[in-house]
Amino acid sequence: MIKIAPSILSADFANLQRDIQRISSADYVHVDVMDGVFVPNISIGIPVVKCLRPTTGLPLDVHLMITQPMRYVDQFCDAGADLVTVHVESDTRENLLEALRKIRAKGKKPGVVLKPATPAEAAEPFLELVDIILVMTVEPGFGGQKFMADMMPKVQALRTLIDAKKPGCELEVDGGVDLNTCRTCVEAGANVLVAGSAVYGAENIPERIQNLRNCMG
Ligand code: DX5
Ligand code: ZN
Repeated sequence: MIKIAPSILSADFANLQRDIQRISSADYVHVDVMDGVFVPNISIGIPVVKCLRPTTGLPLDVHLMITQPMRYVDQFCDAGADLVTVHVESDTRENLLEALRKIRAKGKKPGVVLKPATPAEAAEPFLELVDIILVMTVEPGFGGQKFMADMMPKVQALRTLIDAKKPGCELEVDGGVDLNTCRTCVEAGANVLVAGSAVYGAENIPERIQNLRNCMG
């Protein structure tokens, strides 16, 4: 089954509770955390995740775009994150392994994220420890960017790897996913679609979520 994870980066930050209720038919709430160092933007952090937790029953899919995420993963887990993904480019392999172990020790689902220039093989050292791999289909930092179709071979390669070595691991794509691009992502092997502007820009949000989920017709 295809899962839809609307990104609240495209929500109205003055009305986050309302905008999270508007996506109640989705599968995950995708929360983009940016530190202004790993990416050239600053978004939201631990206190916001904590306040959002009681507003929804959906799992919170927290995408950490921060340097040395090991420093903060415990706090994000305690704030109520259910899935926590860390970028493979954000620290040393050792520190990232420790971050993933900390997330697991909190009873949450750890994952790794690959920027567009990062090859599929970069996920391999972490495969054993993760429940989700996220492939960026834009440069991280901003919503509303153009989908990078040239990431699809990477998604295919990771799908092959997951099927061979870690069945059950989720494969998520993030950036520029809309009604025109969702099908190619699923065909390449993704099973979780993040969508910010495509969801929050819709007249009818539940219908848009359903249409994205049904992208294979
Ligand atoms: C970008 C974020 C994405 C972003 C997606 O750094 O990781 O989650 O919100 O937005 P859209 O779907 O508008 O490309
Ligand atoms: Zn994201």
